[in-house]
Amino acid sequence: MNGALMNYDYLIDKALEGQKKSLPTYSNFHVGAALETADGKIYLGGNIESASYSLTICAERTAIFKAISEGERNFKAIAVVGDTVEFCAPCGACRQVISDLCGDIDVVMINSRRETKVLKISELLPFAFTSKDLE
Ligand code: THU
Repeated sequence: MNGALMNYDYLIDKALEGQKKSLPTYSNFHVGAALETADGKIYLGGNIESASYSLTICAERTAIFKAISEGERNFKAIAVVGDTVEFCAPCGACRQVISDLCGDIDVVMINSRRETKVLKISELLPFAFTSKDLE
């Protein structure tokens, strides 16, 4: 089904759950992510900040690396939530990692009113550099 028509309510709840576990000590900007595998398992992530600021990791990459490190390889969608009225869009680094490691999945961007905007990662990152470009 076209991602924009999918009901991702269950994944929004999980992204909000991930947001509660974020650790944005310095920015106080809480982000949550929920990554769904092809067979329906869900991995949560929150952004985690370090006192050495640049070592911060975003919520999306937390969820993706958790899943990959557990052996998951096939994914369906990732939901991302922040506390802003704008839809929380993945940063450039996360777009690369989503495109590269998750394939062309739906990205469910959520705002503080629980409204969503759903786009394929190929729409958020056209002409991506992936493992195919290394062949
Ligand atoms: N952040 C995310 O977790 N995901 C994004 O896609 C955007 C930015 C985090 C990183 C940092 O901890 C905080 O938001 C402010 O940039």
